[in-house]
Amino acid sequence: MELLKKRICETGQVIGDRIIKVDGFLNHQIDIALLNEIGKEFKARFVSSQITKILTIEASGIGIACITAQYFKVPVLFAKKNEASNLDKDVYSSEVYSFTKDKTYNVQVAKKFLAPTDKVLIIDDFLANGNAVQGLLDIVKQSGAQTLGVGIVIEKSFQQGRKKISDENIQLESLAIIKELRQGQIIFG
Ligand code: G4P
Repeated sequence: MELLKKRICETGQVIGDRIIKVDGFLNHQIDIALLNEIGKEFKARFVSSQITKILTIEASGIGIACITAQYFKVPVLFAKKNEASNLDKDVYSSEVYSFTKDKTYNVQVAKKFLAPTDKVLIIDDFLANGNAVQGLLDIVKQSGAQTLGVGIVIEKSFQQGRKKISDENIQLESLAIIKELRQGQIIFG
């Protein structure tokens, strides 16, 4: 998606050789016009799928999923990372290790919001090591629902995420693929 790549080049900050900071439009301040284009692009790429629900994970996935859901006209469900007293006790859960934060989360989704008849599109901001997406795939499996696709805004293909997900034989679409971060430069795949 050229518009997205252009924005990453213009405002993204490369941190070392593994992290790209995009808090000017995606992770902190959010550019809604750009998110609208991202939502349209996901709709175009998952056109034949009979999606009934979009699943994401808090926090940064939520805004992207909500705007995308307007094009699919389906609800958004987000996995919670923290124990909350207002969360149902009857939950699907999966452990997700974050390399970036060196922390393991027990991510949870209330069972009542995911039915075996659901056809799920997973949406997230980054695909790095793939742990977040694997946790969401695990939750969908537990529910008996089916994952029809995974939509990612920025994939870092020098990390292991795609390999882990492609083993599952699920349509994976990334709108910008970064194959290398080198000396402050962003090299797209
Ligand atoms: P994984 O989910 O693919 O395994 O990736 P990893 O453990 O490395 O990432 C953990 C968190 O860091 C995720 O956010 C992910 O979106 C984010 N992340 C990974 N690589 C980058 C990067 O290059 N730039 C930025 N800006 N973020 C990155 P999270 O913990 O879910 O945080 P949030 O959604 O609450 O912001």
